[in-house]
Amino acid sequence: MRAVVFTGTRSVMVQDVPDAELEEPTDVVVRVTSSAICGTDLHMYDGRTGAEPGLVFGHEPLGVVERAGSAVEMVERGDRVVIPTHLYCGVCVNCARGLSAACLRVRPGGFGAAYGYAGMGAYRGAQAELLRVPYADANCVPVPGEPGDDLEDDLVLLADAFVTGWHATELAEIRAGSTVAVFGAGTIGLLAAYGSLLKGAAEVYVVDAVPDRLDKAGELGAVPVDYRQGDPVERIRELRRKGGLPIGEEAMGGVEAAIDAVGFQACDRSVPGEENPAQVIADLARLVNPAGHIGIIGVHTEKDLHPAPQGYADGRLTVPWATFFAKGVSVRFGRTHDRRYTVLLRDLVLSGRARPSTVVSHHGGLDDAPVLYRSFDRRADGVIKAVLRP
Ligand SMILES: NC(=O)c1ccc[n+]([C@@H]2O[C@H](COP(=O)([O-])OP(=O)(O)OC[C@H]3O[C@@H](n4cnc5c(N)ncnc54)[C@H](O)[C@@H]3O)[C@@H](O)[C@H]2O)c1
Ligand SMILES: [Zn+2]
Ligand SMILES: [Zn+2]
Repeated sequence: MRAVVFTGTRSVMVQDVPDAELEEPTDVVVRVTSSAICGTDLHMYDGRTGAEPGLVFGHEPLGVVERAGSAVEMVERGDRVVIPTHLYCGVCVNCARGLSAACLRVRPGGFGAAYGYAGMGAYRGAQAELLRVPYADANCVPVPGEPGDDLEDDLVLLADAFVTGWHATELAEIRAGSTVAVFGAGTIGLLAAYGSLLKGAAEVYVVDAVPDRLDKAGELGAVPVDYRQGDPVERIRELRRKGGLPIGEEAMGGVEAAIDAVGFQACDRSVPGEENPAQVIADLARLVNPAGHIGIIGVHTEKDLHPAPQGYADGRLTVPWATFFAKGVSVRFGRTHDRRYTVLLRDLVLSGRARPSTVVSHHGGLDDAPVLYRSFDRRADGVIKAVLRP
């Protein structure tokens, strides 16, 4: 089968690799119809997280079951399914609690696993014609319709992007009436903003420096804030003041909920061209209101081969701990417990209430992957979210 293979820093190639096969009776093999490229892939593509050349990338698949193992009961050949990024067994104590990203059985010696990701288990990626899905009864989320129909792009975003954006809104405790700031207008930040608006947030600000991404934030109903035009924390406070702060809130003027949808490769606002993994967290600490909530959904890695000047190879960070304490804010992190949200969000899509596909900017075949990766990595050519159709 053909697959997108990592061949070294800032290089992927489409290569022939052995077909995905059934290895356990509980597996299925899925024929992939759509497979999205994610900002998470870029951390590896940039040569930061120790991915080995030869790794098949991809963790956001939608497809059709091609073969099912003898013990699989819930899906069969021909079923259309979306496969959550973080695979899980479905029955261990963490899975039983709905904490599927902390599954204790999918990565011996560790917890949690993902397809096509360095350090997250020996599972080949989904930017390929075929994908082996272990514990298929747990991991296949059935969806209606036919490959290539009007919902193809909405459904593929259920594998990771939409659920992760939603998880960010849960980490930051967003509810009806919340005031929200999201740093990062990539797919995850945009869908965190979209999820906030679906939940009824009163005001949503989205911070970035890439014009087409900021435009997309505006299109979704958020207020775009371009950090090239000055300190985004001051700018959001000023916008809130100008808009008229709610009665009684004059002494605050920040936001109740603030999200990091950037991660450790955040741009340093004072040194253009350089990274600063603590930049966004420092901004959130300044912006969040007393007793507010911070959600960190951007990846912070325990292994960074080329840390930025303020960073460390093991991912340690200097963060304003005392500010968090003084303000009494909650700070929550982590990988998405996909399975908590996939069915809920699938049904929001099927009812027509949610259309996350508005963030999809590009399509291509597997052969287009090298070009799409290059543009996406530079946040150029209008690439926000690219979906490959193998
Ligand atoms: N926790 C999870 O389960 C999970 C799942 C998927 C993705 N992620 C992570 O979420 C993050 C975002 O993913 P994406 O696909 O949207 O990536 P992306 O790279 O497309 O988006 C990141 C955006 O952040 C912006 N940015 C950089 N520095 C900034 C700063 N200082 N202030 C504001 N914006 C800044 C960039 O311009 C870019 O638009 C990545 O770290 C990704 O690995 C986490
Ligand atoms: Zn992803
Ligand atoms: Zn488990």
